Amino acid sequence: MIYYFSGTGNSAWVARMLADATADRCEDMSTYLKNGWHPPPLVPGERLGLVFPVHAWRPPRVVLDFINQLPPPSEESYVFAVCTMGGFAGNTFSFLRQFIRLDSCYSVLMPENYILLAGRESDAQIKHKITAAKALIPKIAASILAGKKAFLVKRGLLPSFFTGCIGALFNWRVNDRKFHTTAKCNGCGTCAGLCPLSNISLDNGQPKWQGNCIHCMACLQRCPQQAIEYGKITLSRKRYVFPDSC
Ligand SMILES: Cc1cc2nc3c(=O)[nH]c(=O)nc-3n(C[C@H](O)[C@H](O)[C@H](O)COP(=O)(O)O)c2cc1C
Repeated sequence: MIYYFSGTGNSAWVARMLADATADRCEDMSTYLKNGWHPPPLVPGERLGLVFPVHAWRPPRVVLDFINQLPPPSEESYVFAVCTMGGFAGNTFSFLRQFIRLDSCYSVLMPENYILLAGRESDAQIKHKITAAKALIPKIAASILAGKKAFLVKRGLLPSFFTGCIGALFNWRVNDRKFHTTAKCNGCGTCAGLCPLSNISLDNGQPKWQGNCIHCMACLQRCPQQAIEYGKITLSRKRYVFPDSC
């Protein structure tokens, strides 16, 4: 079984590609988290995969919450994790190993989705990254199928600093106070349905953020009206969602 978490579709796509290539199934962690469901125990010897985006050089908090609800895999189960990232992963996997045993770890470079730092990459950059990912995923799948103990991760410079210091700072400071809607909002409620933490409620047809946010950017990036902004910083920035055409 492959479980994935995804804000804007990159990790969902990687999980689906890996599931196809390894003849496995994949499911969205958010479905479990939102419904308060507990993932079932693995069948003895069943493979377990985790696919998620890097957030501030760590796994997102919701991924750790999900893992804490997973019945621990037995020693016969091969466990792998794949992170998607816009740049580099730091010590994401050392951090994750505090929560679960991992036999192999991989990173896949994908288009950047943290719109608070930068707008959408150019179409050429997006295409280039996705083409490279398409070539890499079968290699990761082959490594998984062979049950390899692999660590194919682009950690970047100063991984301890980024994961330890910046990761801690991000998780301490992250909040939703600057999310708001513009006059373009038609109260469709897509954002409330998408939020993996069920952090958005509709008040007289207007989204209200409830204070439990990890900045996955699903609401802002996927709003069909482009009616969600974060302060003023996103006003002129183009949105990114994994392109259906790929
Ligand atoms: C809050 C946040 C923090 C991020 N931090 C990092 C990071 O530390 N390193 C990195 O390379 N990419 C970072 N990114 C980019 C995402 O990891 C990357 O775009 C990922 O593929 C998005 O996957 P998704 O579409 O499945 O959510 C961050 C994105 C967000 C929203």
